[in-house]
Amino acid sequence: MADFVKLATIHDLPDGGMRAVEHHGRRIALFRVGDTVYATDDICSHDYAELSDGFFDSDDCVVECPLHGSRFDVRTGRALTLPAFKPIDVFEVQRQGDDVLVRVG
Ligand code: FES
Repeated sequence: MADFVKLATIHDLPDGGMRAVEHHGRRIALFRVGDTVYATDDICSHDYAELSDGFFDSDDCVVECPLHGSRFDVRTGRALTLPAFKPIDVFEVQRQGDDVLVRVG
């Protein structure tokens, strides 16, 4: 099982915002809602688009793909609207003080 790795600090993420980081060539999107951070694949499951270039609705924890508009729940990875129907990967997140640790499997 993969270890947790530090991918950001909480100060790198504006509340209600998102950003992408790279880990071993894989793009991971981080989403902050208050003190909680969610981590998902940054690449849409429908085609190649970076979800971190889309729109994040922090009230509903939903990110909208910038290319064709599919919406994903960042807590579960579930595709909520077509054309995407496959989920995106989600990763476990831990906080250690200000550090945001993600288990990228
Ligand atoms: S690439 Fe994301 S919905 Fe098509």
